[in-house]
Amino acid sequence: MFLRNYWYVAALDHEVKDRPLGRTILGEPVVLFRTADGKLGALQDRCAHRRLPLSMGKVVGDALQCHYHGLHFDRSGKCVRVPGQELIPQSARVRTYPVVERYRWIWIWMGDPALADPEKITDFHWLDDPDWGAKASYLHVEANWQLVVDNLLDLTHLAFVHETTIGNMALVEHAAVKVQRAHDNVLVTRWIIDQPAPPTFVKVGKFTGNVDRWQIIDYVPPAFLRLDVGATPTGTGAPEGRRVGGISMRNLNAITPETETTSHYFWGQAHDFDVNNPETTEKVFQQIQTAFLEDVAVFTAQQRSITQRPDAPQTDINADAGGIQARRIVDRLYREEQTAAPAVAAE
Ligand code: FES
Ligand SMILES: [Fe+2]
Repeated sequence: MFLRNYWYVAALDHEVKDRPLGRTILGEPVVLFRTADGKLGALQDRCAHRRLPLSMGKVVGDALQCHYHGLHFDRSGKCVRVPGQELIPQSARVRTYPVVERYRWIWIWMGDPALADPEKITDFHWLDDPDWGAKASYLHVEANWQLVVDNLLDLTHLAFVHETTIGNMALVEHAAVKVQRAHDNVLVTRWIIDQPAPPTFVKVGKFTGNVDRWQIIDYVPPAFLRLDVGATPTGTGAPEGRRVGGISMRNLNAITPETETTSHYFWGQAHDFDVNNPETTEKVFQQIQTAFLEDVAVFTAQQRSITQRPDAPQTDINADAGGIQARRIVDRLYREEQTAAPAVAAE
């Protein structure tokens, strides 16, 4: 089940340089490429001639040349050259997809191109905002995209999966949690007051005593999760909005379905302290990456277990509230999309 009329992240900007990049998105093979003058193109990754993936080819001027018999396709998907032949068949064209570069990510629209409004791209400005230090990365995940969304909406798992970095038991035992649902948004707010800081926070925030820690998780469908996280020395007023003497970070996540059981996981970490020091950015990134690789191991094992027995029962607990709300929104949007344009949705 994929929502199609949305912008998704297809690649990190530097993944697409002078060579084409093939990537399956929402079950469709896509090739991303840059022409010689740097313009971005996204085509179906299947040659109109004998269906070789175009991502095996190369960029020649402002076109992509198929590796097999050398047909050239431009950014509009039209064949503009057939070697050894004057006449170009009308049918020699491939589907194109709208693409936009923003926040150091390449965004793609897989649905009806007429609806592709770049204004609808979810805000991830922290990734290229000079007021923040940030680093982004990519993980391939052998799991359905909604397992990743569930994970980020329930941060009690930090205490168990990430106890050596960003987790400790205070997160589960002493959190005040609020789940707010809007029409197309879920906001989970967690406050952990006057509790020890987890290992990563001690390392990068140099806390010596207890802290007031916040985790504010902002979910936007289909799969964007922007986490406002941080801590200040306890009693200095963070719950009332005075964030002084501590650290503030944004953990930024965009999950793009590859297939029903695999996903592209784009994520980044931004920090508001020591902003212009690449060593700090790297240190923060490495800590969070350690935690995220622990998550990937969990998703993969979960997916294996689900695939083994898709109908096995599962039970819900209080901590699932955010994830359950997010799934309800996705279910509603899917029904709406199917009703509005079944042809595009099923294409
Ligand atoms: S398969 Fe692409 S040119 Fe023949
Ligand atoms: Fe995690």
